[in-house]
Amino acid sequence: MRILFLGDVVGKPGYTAVLQNAEPLRKELRLDALVVNAENAADGSGLTSRQYRRLVDAGVDAMTLGDHIFREKEIAKTLATSKRIVKPANFPPEAPGKCWTTVKTSGGGSLAIVSLLGRVFMRPVDCPFIAIDRVLEEIGDKTKQILVDVHAEATSDKQTIGRYLDGRVTAVLGTHTHVPTADACIFPGGTAFQCDVGMCGPYASIIGRDIKRVTQTTRTFEPCHFHVATDDVRLCGAIVQSDVDGRATSIERFERRIDK
Ligand SMILES: [Fe+2]
Ligand SMILES: [Fe+2]
Repeated sequence: MRILFLGDVVGKPGYTAVLQNAEPLRKELRLDALVVNAENAADGSGLTSRQYRRLVDAGVDAMTLGDHIFREKEIAKTLATSKRIVKPANFPPEAPGKCWTTVKTSGGGSLAIVSLLGRVFMRPVDCPFIAIDRVLEEIGDKTKQILVDVHAEATSDKQTIGRYLDGRVTAVLGTHTHVPTADACIFPGGTAFQCDVGMCGPYASIIGRDIKRVTQTTRTFEPCHFHVATDDVRLCGAIVQSDVDGRATSIERFERRIDK
């Protein structure tokens, strides 16, 4: 199975780039599945139900989110009722949304998608290790192809979760910091890993936001709205190939500059 996972879609530049390129990329890269972290699609924070529907229509198989999940509150009903989107599995059970989902892939297979939030330098959430153990038990033998988005601030947090899942899932791919890391690899047990796959959005920025505004507030402590930046838009992610047993056979970084 060939899967492209794209990192945090940031604001209009990232969202538009994914909408326009999802279907062409599926063909060009001969993808079986396209999964996207969409937590920053709505003007840099959150995802709207309309955006969810348009991304599905454009060729995105499934979406993960992150700590900004409820910035657009109306996404709650989509989370509760839609099949192609998951909440972090270590969110409270009372929160709307599924802890995992499966999608049929182009090649006729089935791919499970799970999202986990880290706990270092992040708001408190339930234990990701207990959550993923529970989810993997629920998935059971429904599919061996399992993609885990680990949405966390600290590389050590992501590595620990990645190593914990080595040999139990197809890929553990990091999001949230919006900067691609150069550590894509396959662990000894056959799990593909990358600390952060990078964002889909403007790279002439501070993690997607206007450089001047972020710098001003950082220097003066005077709050202001951080507009989404506009320049050097790129789609970033990772392409993972796996065998029939769900073991990763390759991982490569994906990066595509989008012309204005
Ligand atoms: Fe993000
Ligand atoms: Fe995040």
